[in-house]
Amino acid sequence: MDGRELVRSMKVVGSVQGLRSVRSAWRQRRADARALPVRGAERARVPGQAAGARPEPGGGVVRFARAELRVCVTVGGAVFWGWDGAEALPSYALAGSPPDPDPRAELEPDTDGGWRVVSERVMVAVSRHGAVEIRTPGGVVLRRELPPRWWEPVAGGVARWVQRAEVAADARFFGLGGRARGPRLADGTYRLWNTDPGGRFGPEDDPLYVTMPVQMVVADAGTHLAFVDNSWDGRVTLREGEEGAGSGHDRPGTSELRMDGGPLRCWVVIGTPARVLHGWTALTGAPVPPPAWALGPQHARWGFGSAREVRRVVAGYRERGLPLSAVHLDIDHFDAHQVFTVDGERFPDLPGLAAELRADGVRLVSIVDPAVKAAAGNAVYESGRAVDAFVRDARGEEVRGEVWPGACAYPDFTDPGVREWWGGLYAERLAQGFSGVWHDMNEPVSFAPFGDTTLPRSARHRLEGRGGDHREAHNVYGLEMARAGFEGLRGLRPDERPFLFSRSGWAGMQRYGGTWSGDVATGWPGLRASLALVLGLGLCGVPYSGPDVGGFDGSPSPELYLRWFQLGAYMPLFRTHAAIDAGRREPWEFGAEVLEHARAALAERERLRPYFMTLAQLARLTGAPYVRPVWWGAPEDRALRDCEDAFMLGDGLLVAPVLACGADRRAVRLPRGRWYDTATGRAYEGPGQVLVDAPLSRVPVLARAGAVIPVRGEDGAVELEAWAPAPGRTGGGLVIGDPGDGWGAAEVERYTSRVVDGEVRVERVTDAGAVAPERAVRVRGVASAGG
Ligand code: GLC
Repeated sequence: MDGRELVRSMKVVGSVQGLRSVRSAWRQRRADARALPVRGAERARVPGQAAGARPEPGGGVVRFARAELRVCVTVGGAVFWGWDGAEALPSYALAGSPPDPDPRAELEPDTDGGWRVVSERVMVAVSRHGAVEIRTPGGVVLRRELPPRWWEPVAGGVARWVQRAEVAADARFFGLGGRARGPRLADGTYRLWNTDPGGRFGPEDDPLYVTMPVQMVVADAGTHLAFVDNSWDGRVTLREGEEGAGSGHDRPGTSELRMDGGPLRCWVVIGTPARVLHGWTALTGAPVPPPAWALGPQHARWGFGSAREVRRVVAGYRERGLPLSAVHLDIDHFDAHQVFTVDGERFPDLPGLAAELRADGVRLVSIVDPAVKAAAGNAVYESGRAVDAFVRDARGEEVRGEVWPGACAYPDFTDPGVREWWGGLYAERLAQGFSGVWHDMNEPVSFAPFGDTTLPRSARHRLEGRGGDHREAHNVYGLEMARAGFEGLRGLRPDERPFLFSRSGWAGMQRYGGTWSGDVATGWPGLRASLALVLGLGLCGVPYSGPDVGGFDGSPSPELYLRWFQLGAYMPLFRTHAAIDAGRREPWEFGAEVLEHARAALAERERLRPYFMTLAQLARLTGAPYVRPVWWGAPEDRALRDCEDAFMLGDGLLVAPVLACGADRRAVRLPRGRWYDTATGRAYEGPGQVLVDAPLSRVPVLARAGAVIPVRGEDGAVELEAWAPAPGRTGGGLVIGDPGDGWGAAEVERYTSRVVDGEVRVERVTDAGAVAPERAVRVRGVASAGG
């Protein structure tokens, strides 16, 4: 038992649910011992020498003495390779069929007895021993995958494997899903197994709810994203390289992936960070933009307790003139914690409450847990049984786990029929008046004081008819639940984009919605971790997320609450939330001073709503996250690669949140160019580091000179805030309007800015040429600074 397990087991001792969860954990252990083969003798295998190759469109198949490798460069420039017959499909990550092979990419013999595929955007070289190199068209190596090694059970069964990659000595690693220690992934081992850390987590906890074998690597020579399309349990060990200070003895960075099973197949996309994410979301699906209201401030709590309490909180916002877009109801509004039910005593007329709030501009969002109370009389359970919806064990019995309502059954979301049945259940949520859903506990969780807090690995899953067990299905469980919910809602209410965010997920989850931090520990380290998560997830193609503002547990100090609130105001999902036994999280609960500063943060969020809408639509069009690392536009600036305490909001704003106690100013690392402190108008020149005031009333936000940013004017109309370009330079920006909550495409307005005769001039770029904008323009910054 490790330390975490000990704490877990201490917590459950004494409670009835605790005793049941002990029993459930033992049951799982026995089920696995019975059904999973013990690892016996294994035989190691490496590919051996290349023996020949067969060209195919986009590349070909290289035969080795003991393995076979298929390489394919696709039309968008993404590279696929798979060993031993692994194809791109079936895949839970890809949005549909993989892109077509690039007809101009051809396999040809290389000088050293290997092979290579040359294309316009990328070059792939396969050595005669089976190393795979990804090079830029100019020939610079971005990634070298050494020949893999498999261990195959002599008695037959699943092979585990390892593959080690080398990257440039100056490279930095990012991604792997949501990691509390990021966004730059320091040397260490990261597990690929979606996990509820139990209770709360801080920067030291790994893994968390969303893991994925997606890695973004940023180096001088270029950026690339590597994805191993394999959902099995695995571990990635990262080690940054070291440069030999001109001695020519660089030590490369390394990434070693060890998987417990599953295919060895990989996708790589190269280019600038923007190109890479565009390529990645072209493969795995465009991030679905939330409806406009979900870009506003939201408030949740586990334990609102009753409709009265919800009304009281909403009235609290209204009476103080604080904007509020949505209120989230947690499991305590269910009847005895059972999903798709309502406690009729405490919420006697939920549709009525929803309508009343809606008239005030406040939506209701519902939590949805996957586990269904396994009891006769539970309608969801009975309807699920009727369609054989629940996960079974190797003996054919329904698997039981322990969650909030007690003993539960788990829908098998890897079965299309089950997804359809589950999607239909959201009709009940819509009838109750909910406008969106919040998927939780879908790692999936089964409480256990020891061992894995999830289903037994031997539990059977349909896996789209292929059949398999939880070892393969675990990491895609949350993803497929999101798919079921998303498709269900889309079918039930075809004219509205579903609002869905999910605690667990995997590569491609952005097709269905977003995610959030989960139970981040209240404290300054938790505040940092919540920024790391949002940044890291964005680099994996999941742009919509945000933390529990204030932290999940306990009570933040007024200062910590305020700093969290100020960070949250610039996150895509801006939501206060806390545990049932935690302190309050309403902005007025921390004294008059905090209330006034929180009010300012809310007002700024509201003012920036058109910018958030633009960023949401831009994410859909290009894959670029709203919240980006400061190196996004300047990956070659090495100092910025290590910057973890600031971020870009779109292209225009650099936000430098306060992440430390007692700070009233902070150092900010600037990318190249001129930057204006938006509070004081003072201009700074980057690259470099500057010290900026950060009084309690605000966090530093700097605007890029030349930026044109859509904001909400006092009359509610969208205006353009134009920051004066630096002398001799130009700038610009995009505005993508709100197309409504449906599926219509929004119009993209493109603006340029420049200085003419000492004055800032903003023009709209149209097919007919540059025209004066129809929108009001407000110029900020020093227009005449030498321009
Ligand atoms: C989990 C969720 C949390 C929620 C709680 C009760 O801990 O992460 O957000 O409040 O369950 O449903």
